[in-house]
Amino acid sequence: MVKSVSTVPEEILDEQRAFMKRVYDINMTACQQSGSSPYAFVHSYGCQQNVADAEHIKGMLAEMGYRMTDEIGQADVVIYNTCAVRENAEDRVFGNVGALKNQKRRNPSMIIGLCGCMMQQEHIAQRIKKSFPFVDLVFGTHALHAFPELLYEALTSGHRVFETTGSDGVIAEGLPTKRDGHIKAWVPIMYGCDNFCTYCIVPYVRGRERSRSSEAILKEVKELINEGFKEITLLGQNVNSYGSKEDEISFAELLRRIAAIDGDFRVRFMTSHPKDATKELIDTIAACDKICSHIHLPVQSGSNRILKQMNRRYTAEDYLDIIRYAKEKIPGVTFTSDIMVGFPSETYEDFKQTLALVKQVEYDALFTFLYSKRVGTKAAAMEDLTTDAEKSRWFRELLEVQGEIGRKRNASYVGQTLRVLADGKGRSGEGFLTGRSESNTIVDFEADDSLIGQFVHVKITEARNAALSGVLV
Ligand code: SAH
Ligand code: SF4
Ligand code: F3S
Repeated sequence: MVKSVSTVPEEILDEQRAFMKRVYDINMTACQQSGSSPYAFVHSYGCQQNVADAEHIKGMLAEMGYRMTDEIGQADVVIYNTCAVRENAEDRVFGNVGALKNQKRRNPSMIIGLCGCMMQQEHIAQRIKKSFPFVDLVFGTHALHAFPELLYEALTSGHRVFETTGSDGVIAEGLPTKRDGHIKAWVPIMYGCDNFCTYCIVPYVRGRERSRSSEAILKEVKELINEGFKEITLLGQNVNSYGSKEDEISFAELLRRIAAIDGDFRVRFMTSHPKDATKELIDTIAACDKICSHIHLPVQSGSNRILKQMNRRYTAEDYLDIIRYAKEKIPGVTFTSDIMVGFPSETYEDFKQTLALVKQVEYDALFTFLYSKRVGTKAAAMEDLTTDAEKSRWFRELLEVQGEIGRKRNASYVGQTLRVLADGKGRSGEGFLTGRSESNTIVDFEADDSLIGQFVHVKITEARNAALSGVLV
């Protein structure tokens, strides 16, 4: 096996620490003059990987002397961490960035920064350069660890800063982190993707697949558990191929080692790619109580013809085999999935095969997407004769079918007692809490605030559309 990971060397991280100190000094001098410390606003679009990256951005900002704010108008630094996965995600970013123009007019010293997946695309960086002159700082996913230096430059150089060079990607260990909560934590175990599904932009904007060392992951998870975190979600675009390039332990073994850590916590992971979902993985979930018996296994389509065109490298039969094995081995296992409607050349016949698969698996929930053409991907060059109206009709049909299944699945929980991690105040009003079951379903129940952050047992009394409610037992 080739050791292909390129880890950011300690000297470079030291340089970045020195930049953090410089920005901190600038802020403290300003603070002494004005009497108030500077504020930063950070917003993430897209997936949990972006949320995890934003936690590093906030960690670095905190070390540079910034306090976080939810009000853009109060911010001295605004950072949008962007997502490129679908056109509507990009449109939302452009809309929100456009709206910052007025903020900048009111407060010309405000630094406006854009980072994340969208910025790693040349045509987007160019558009920002030309059409959004009030944006001061642009950097892609590969430059995350260099944020302190880039911010320092934006603050002191008097010119706009663009760092969007492509790269196979790196791993930076030990970046500061400011986590969004204290109950659930995201832990990336790998970055990038090598699968090149023909519709997907992720491999182009996130670089080659690379895995963190199991040692670093286990250390981080132990620390989180000691700090009192109750749920750890392991992140990667394809966690099932964890470590395959680095001569590391398998993903199943990593899960076993995490589950063996002492403490009251549970583990989730996303995303599993069906082509690499092994029986060993299923057996591991079955054997370890701390691993949630819920598998998010995106199938995308139920048609083998379309799966092939998508370069997913499994058939509907392979997929159903794994589902069958999991149902057999893991009592009460639940599934969720991503489904794409309207991939180029998809016909109604193909789509009906997706519906059939959805009915067969009986997912607890689905994340459904209309195909969106991404510049530079293979599918962008494929001929697509289906009209948008037709695709929307299929999409609605899928939602109806899943709506029915979801209601039936939720109703099946009534009368059962579920282990729920209470994670906040409920929507049903004062005296109610909300939490998530092992299947990640929302559960509302009457309880005292002191139980937030604890595992509780809730007897389900009612199933609503997207949530359950019950009483503490
Ligand atoms: N690595 C994960 C998916 C990451 S992207 C996996 O392979 O399962 C999350 C979801 O966005 C995908 O599962 C897919 O359903 C959807 N998606 C990705 N590219 C898309 C596109 N071009 N148009 C519409 N949906 C897309
Ligand atoms: Fe995209 Fe496919 Fe990689 Fe998932 S596995 S991130 S869908 S290329
Ligand atoms: Fe979007 Fe990038 Fe995640 S494109 S879905 S934020 S990896």
